[in-house]
Amino acid sequence: MMDHTDKHFRYFMRLLSKHAVLYTEMITTGALIHGDRKRFLDFNEIEHPLAIQLGGNNPVDLAECAHIAENEGYDEVNLNIGCPSDRVQNGQFGACLMSNTELVSECVNKIQSTVKIPVTVKTRIGIDEQDSYEFLEKFIRSVSKAGCNTFIIHARKAILSGLSPKQNREIPPLNYERVHKIKQQFPTLNITINGGFTELSQIKSQLEHVDGVMVGRAAYQNPFILVEADKLLYEDDSPLSSREEILDKFKDYAVEQIDRGFNIKSLTRHIIGLYQGQPGARQYRRSLSDAIPNNVNPIQFLEQVIQSRPRSPS
Ligand SMILES: Cc1cc2nc3c(=O)[nH]c(=O)nc-3n(C[C@H](O)[C@H](O)[C@H](O)COP(=O)(O)O)c2cc1C
Repeated sequence: MMDHTDKHFRYFMRLLSKHAVLYTEMITTGALIHGDRKRFLDFNEIEHPLAIQLGGNNPVDLAECAHIAENEGYDEVNLNIGCPSDRVQNGQFGACLMSNTELVSECVNKIQSTVKIPVTVKTRIGIDEQDSYEFLEKFIRSVSKAGCNTFIIHARKAILSGLSPKQNREIPPLNYERVHKIKQQFPTLNITINGGFTELSQIKSQLEHVDGVMVGRAAYQNPFILVEADKLLYEDDSPLSSREEILDKFKDYAVEQIDRGFNIKSLTRHIIGLYQGQPGARQYRRSLSDAIPNNVNPIQFLEQVIQSRPRSPS
């Protein structure tokens, strides 16, 4: 998720689940080829399994970026065919590419023949008036023939003009059955469903129909819902961490990153949701959002936040 799933957030996620696959923000081919490559690609070893998500429409550039990512140690390369923002549409990539299956297939094919790591596609169930089951089916069929066998499908269509990206995550209705039907029709493909999941119990029941579930906003807004993911979804019976243990571990990481020159707010902004729904959550959020007083050093500030966290009843 743009502006959310940077390496600090992904580190935090890894403290909640050892097994869930983590995704970078969408990184455009232009940014990776011409921009600050180190900043875009940097990750902590703990983040594996880790997928890079690329945005672009030029097969050669995408393959070059996938190659760079593979060399850096990424485990999967994911192509974004779902983003409806104006900026992305102006660049002719993201969701609008759903209507150009030939080009998407060409991109997948070129990436696939360049790297050994899996190439996956994240898409929608349709765009604008092209929202029939047959349209989605044709897209999946063509792109899978080009070499993609894992699709992450956001179960609502994108409306390419008139809606903001935020509205495009809320207004077009969710249609989970359509994604289930794709899995029935293409049983050998890995189909991951996305859109609107906020509880592990929902995720578990989706796994009766599809191979995976991607969680976006809920992982950010209420991350502690994922604490039982390893036990319930990955058959890992390791002891569950408490919010306090997670916060303490994140503090150690934050201190190390501050030492490396990262701004404290770029770290603490990601843990604002940790106490979501708990007594005292508002005070905790406020203490993280407050400006850091001039006379307090960042590590002192972090200690103060930790002191102000809600206490579990003893
Ligand atoms: C702030 C924000 C940024 C997002 N950025 C991306 C992105 O970079 N790539 C992508 O594939 N989806 C992106 N999304 C969409 C989510 O991945 C997801 O498809 C969507 O929010 C629906 O899933 P959810 O209901 O679990 O959040 C973003 C969503 C949000 C809220």
